[in-house]
Amino acid sequence: MYEFTKDCMIGIKEIDDEHKKLFDMINDAIALADKTDDVKSIANNLIKNLKDYANVHFAHEEAYMKKINDPELESQIKEHKAFAKKVNSFELDTSSDEASKKSLNDILVYIIQWLYKHILGSDIMIGKLSDHSEEAENDNPFEFTDKYKTDIALIDDEHRHLFEIIEKTNELIHENLLHDKYDEIMHLLDELKTYTETHFNDEEALMEKISYPGLAAQKKAHAAFVDKLVHIDINELDEIDEHQQAYLFELINYLLSWLSNHILGSDLKIGEYIRENNISID
Ligand SMILES: [Fe+2]
Ligand SMILES: [Fe+2]
Ligand SMILES: [Fe+2]
Repeated sequence: MYEFTKDCMIGIKEIDDEHKKLFDMINDAIALADKTDDVKSIANNLIKNLKDYANVHFAHEEAYMKKINDPELESQIKEHKAFAKKVNSFELDTSSDEASKKSLNDILVYIIQWLYKHILGSDIMIGKLSDHSEEAENDNPFEFTDKYKTDIALIDDEHRHLFEIIEKTNELIHENLLHDKYDEIMHLLDELKTYTETHFNDEEALMEKISYPGLAAQKKAHAAFVDKLVHIDINELDEIDEHQQAYLFELINYLLSWLSNHILGSDLKIGEYIRENNISID
């Protein structure tokens, strides 16, 4: 049973309802496949229904993003297409009843895991990518201000450092003679990846240590973000020109917004939990 938990809600009712419905459909399909000996007769139908509903949902989501002029629309369309391609290429292994069952279950698990990652890594940002140009001049979006503080020294230091790497990358992208900076930018993106993983490991270890109830949800969110980082399309960046510069601006906007959103929406709660329960972490 894959639960559609609160952390998967992006706060836009139409989209949340559709995500929930997808989860329900998958859970029903898994339960049905489990009860049936001959899944061959039901597999095609199940997958077709899921695929159809996912397509309807993607169309709604893309229309919504278009309406609000969301800068991530293009990359979302790409992700949705990749999903459709994978599901379209599914073929049930019919060599035996056992094999059919396994192959149906595999694709259902693939779909649910894709959904978790996609919702937590991408959909969660719909409507949240702030347009920094509207912010006051003296408001530096890269500044690690008090509002981000969990009051857990290790976590705050690591978050501050993540902001610093993103800010450094951003500065570099703004500089002229960008093509000279390719190696440096790559290096910083790499550093960001590595340091993000270190940070998530540390944060998860801490949550484990204090038996934090939100650990599972945090792990899923972290995995979704790492997945996005890993899939930064380096090939798209083999030469840095104006087009790549625009791509990098959007990337920075996404990275900063995801992190800021995650710290404010999830990580701060770790600090609250520690204070409410008088836990000593030293
Ligand atoms: Fe999406
Ligand atoms: Fe964190
Ligand atoms: Fe976190």
